[in-house]
Amino acid sequence: MPHGVAYNHTERFFCFSCAAIQLVWDAGGTFPRGGGVARPLTIAIDGPAASGKSTVGGLLAQRMGYLYFDTGAMYRAVTWEALQRGVDIADEEAVSRLARMLRIDIVKPARSDGRQYTVLADGEDVTWEIRRPEVDRYVSPVSAYAEVRRALTEQQRRIGERGQVVMVGRDIGTVVLPDAELKIYLDASTEVRARRRYLELLERGEESDSEKTLDAMKRRDQIDSHREVAPLKVAEDAVRIDTDNLGVDEVLDVLEKLVEEAPVEGGGGNP
Ligand code: DC
Repeated sequence: MPHGVAYNHTERFFCFSCAAIQLVWDAGGTFPRGGGVARPLTIAIDGPAASGKSTVGGLLAQRMGYLYFDTGAMYRAVTWEALQRGVDIADEEAVSRLARMLRIDIVKPARSDGRQYTVLADGEDVTWEIRRPEVDRYVSPVSAYAEVRRALTEQQRRIGERGQVVMVGRDIGTVVLPDAELKIYLDASTEVRARRRYLELLERGEESDSEKTLDAMKRRDQIDSHREVAPLKVAEDAVRIDTDNLGVDEVLDVLEKLVEEAPVEGGGGNP
């Protein structure tokens, strides 16, 4: 396979040659502002764990007919595979090598069990495994490694630059797509986010403890916000939304308003 990105128009996914990733692109959304009205081509949504980024990011992308790309799934896939293969998480070089070599595919949901997409690591379905507490525990140190970030950021940027994308993560507005036409920073208090994560784990039948979940959340926040490379922070030109007292529909309403009002160049975001 040639090196670089290939976009498969029939199946609507992207494909890379190595450390590859394929992405779902479900066009034909129902976003109210269609033909003729300019919309932002690239939408970056950043924020801490369990701030609601994935849920509202996925729904917004669906409504707009844009690609939804959850970049955290890539860091999680590398972490899960490192744990599976007995790679020492403290061994930066070994983890970085794995990040460069691992083929990560994010494709249309293979089954309807609540998943937004299917994540494949070297062909194996790891969609739910990457959500396990041990991945939660180790993903922050893994994502702090400069070479891991370099390998994954490169792929994320190439996809983002093609436009019509809602990209979700920690450094999308600051590093991956600094020129994104709309930048959102979703936030919520640590307690509210820990509670959401705790309920999520219970719902999936995972063993969970509210105190431990809160401690783990604090630990991750600390690493994600204080790492040297691409730390979690609010981009200067981002709109910050506090979701403590907002439901999913209310956050979506705010986002749709921001999309409508975002100043965009040209108007190439119209399908
Ligand atoms: O959003 P999430 O919880 O699935 O992200 C998992 C981890 O990946 C998180 O601890 C930080 C890291 N991450 C990152 O560093 N940069 C991104 N763009 C996305 C996620």
